[in-house]
Amino acid sequence: MIKKYDIALLRGDGIGPEIVDSAVRVLEAVGEKYNLAFTFTPYLIGGSAIDAVGEPLPKETVEGCLNADSVLLGAVGGPKWDSLPGHLRPEKALLGIRSAMELFTNLRPAKLYPALKGECPLRADIVENGFDIMIVRELTGGIYFGERGYREGKYGQEAFDTESYSEMEIERIARVAFETARKRRKKLTSIDKANVLETSRLWRKIVHEIAKEYPDVEVNDMLVDNAAMQLVRNPSQFDVIVTSNMFGDILSDEASQITGSIGMLPSASLGNTSRGLYEPIHGSAPDIAGQNKANPIATILSASMMLLYAFNEKEASDAIVSAVDKALNEGLRTADLARGDTVALTTSQMTDEIIKRL
Ligand code: IPM
Ligand code: MN
Repeated sequence: MIKKYDIALLRGDGIGPEIVDSAVRVLEAVGEKYNLAFTFTPYLIGGSAIDAVGEPLPKETVEGCLNADSVLLGAVGGPKWDSLPGHLRPEKALLGIRSAMELFTNLRPAKLYPALKGECPLRADIVENGFDIMIVRELTGGIYFGERGYREGKYGQEAFDTESYSEMEIERIARVAFETARKRRKKLTSIDKANVLETSRLWRKIVHEIAKEYPDVEVNDMLVDNAAMQLVRNPSQFDVIVTSNMFGDILSDEASQITGSIGMLPSASLGNTSRGLYEPIHGSAPDIAGQNKANPIATILSASMMLLYAFNEKEASDAIVSAVDKALNEGLRTADLARGDTVALTTSQMTDEIIKRL
C-alpha cells in the first residue's frame, strides 16, 4: 500500500531553491523504495515573496503550511532586503511561520561523522571519540518575540528588545528536552545566564521542578559563556542541551562548525502536532546562490528528520542518513568540506551520489 504525504515547500532565497530541490529529489527516490508518495506544493516566503507580492509571509503561505502534512524550508534573506524595516524583512517571515505553526521546539542535532574528523577544526585528540549532541532550542519565545522598539532616552534615540519567558513556555520545552534525553544517553545540560538574567533564574527553577519527574535523567546547569567554551574544549561531554531561543541560535552555529561545516546541520521545528517544519540551520548564503555550489546535506538530513518525526517512517529516514554516511565515507565532498586536492562536487552531483547510495 502506498502512503501519501502532502509537503509544503518553502524554497525561500539565496541557495534555498537549490538545496530544497535536492532534498525533494532525495525524497522522491526514497519514496519509490519505501512506497511513499509525496506531493510538493511550493509557497512564497522571505525576500522572494517580498519581490513577488510585497510581503515576506503571504497568508496563502501560512494557510498552505497549516494544511500540509509537513513543511520543508530552504533559507530566507539576502543583502537585497537588508535595509527594509524590521517588520518587512525576510527573517520576519521565518519567525512568523514558526509562531503561526506554534513550533516551540527546535531540534538541532550536531554530530561528528567519523569521515569528517579531518574537517573538524578542533585538535584530533579532542574529537578522538567523536561527539553527538542534540540541541533543544526554544523557538517561539524569548527576546526574538518580546516587546521591542525605539524611544527617546537621555542620550538621544534608544532601541530596545526584551527577553521574557513564562513558566508555561519553559515547562513545555523542558519536558521535550527530558523526553529527548531519556531516549538518548540520559544526560541533560540546561544552558542559561542565571548569574545575570531573571529569565534565566526562572528557567533554572522550572527545569529543576520538571527534573523531579525524570529521576533517570542526569541534569546539570551551565552558564552560556562557559558552554560556548566547553563546546570547543570538550564537546563529547554533552548529550542533550536545552536552552533559550537566542542562546540556542548562537550555540548551534558554533556546534555546527565543529562537525566540519554548517552545511551539515539539519533541524526539526516541532509543536504539539506531528506536522512540523524542517530546515537546515544555515542561512541563504547569497554569495554562492545560483552557482550549484552549496552543500545540500543539511537539507537532505532535514528531510530525513521529517520522515522520522512527521511521518514515523523510520526505515526511509535511516536510509537517507546511511546514504549520506556512505557518500562521506567514500570521500565525497562539497566545496565547504573539500580541502587540499579534494575535488569539490556541485550541489546536484552530491545529491546524485547520495541518491545512488539509497
Ligand atoms: C536560524 C536563523 C534564524 C534564527 C534567522 C534567519 C531569523 O539564524 O534559524 O538559526 O535566528 O532563528
Ligand atoms: Mn541561526
